Amino acid sequence: MTGLSDFLTQLDDLVSEAQSAFDAAADSAELEDSRVAFLGAKSGRLKSVQKGMGSVVGSDKPAAGKRLNEVKQQIQNAFDGAQTRLVAGTLSIGQQPAVDHSVPGRRPSLGHLHPVTQTIEELMDIMGRLGFTPADGPEIEDEWHNFEALNIPREHPARDPLDNFYLNVAHQTAESSLLLRSQTSTVQIRVMEKTPPPIRIISLGRVYRPDTADATHYPMFHQMEGLLVDRQVTMADLKSVLRIFATSYLGDEVHVRFRPSFFPFTEPSVEADYHWNDAWVEFGGAGMVDPNVLRAVGYDPEEVTGFAFGLGVERLCMRRHNITDIRELYKNDVRFLEQF
Ligand code: PHE
Repeated sequence: MTGLSDFLTQLDDLVSEAQSAFDAAADSAELEDSRVAFLGAKSGRLKSVQKGMGSVVGSDKPAAGKRLNEVKQQIQNAFDGAQTRLVAGTLSIGQQPAVDHSVPGRRPSLGHLHPVTQTIEELMDIMGRLGFTPADGPEIEDEWHNFEALNIPREHPARDPLDNFYLNVAHQTAESSLLLRSQTSTVQIRVMEKTPPPIRIISLGRVYRPDTADATHYPMFHQMEGLLVDRQVTMADLKSVLRIFATSYLGDEVHVRFRPSFFPFTEPSVEADYHWNDAWVEFGGAGMVDPNVLRAVGYDPEEVTGFAFGLGVERLCMRRHNITDIRELYKNDVRFLEQF
């Protein structure tokens, strides 16, 4: 006959054994095995201890039953605690890939300078080595700097409203309208008006012409303007500078050719062609500064002479990178631009 005290001792032992079995479980499979071993409905340890109730005398049964229920709860609590511990552990194992330091990180996508800006910086660099200092002027100009001082008189077709972006603004007069500059030659005048000779400047900036956009035209583009004024400057100096420039930018195999041309602000005037990849390509205009221009800025044409040139920046950029359509440069399509 099992007495009450034996029964209670068995229950106490069961609690501590279950507790240590649950604590020892290394994963949820082991914990499940222990749960079946202690709490299993058919042959669990609790079930077999419970059978001992039958041998507790009748008057002790309420106390034995009460204790049995407590023990059931304690074992269940021990199991719940162990399960929480394992789930927490599993979770932290599951999270590890998210902080896996061996996985390469996502690179922030860094931008770079626009190909035209890169070209401008390179051109300034080359011309800087030849002693040309950067100069600048406004993109909104008056007719004096864009035309008049450059020996382009009022009746000249270059001043036609159809060929220029004149601005319709309040403060312009009948004598002088404002316009988006059509050429960087304006900077020649602005520099010479402020500075006595000698002059050796380069100006890189935007110009505007109402051209319909196609593969080789765009209503806004960039020019590189060069101006050198000093005593006894000749065409030979001009050709040397343009040849050194061409070979520096495009490579040693490049040849330079001058073709006679006309610009109101240079005399004589030439078109400069570069021979590159088996073709002669026009890069811009050049010539000796017209005496009328020197006089317009207060220089004495008997004292000083000079040369000037104006080249298309996009053309140089496109030639270098084999870009065949100028419009690609201004679509802001990163897939195109990131190639350069
Ligand atoms: N300004 C001329 C153009 O836009 C180019 C040029 C510049 C020609 C300087 C001669 C001298 O076509």
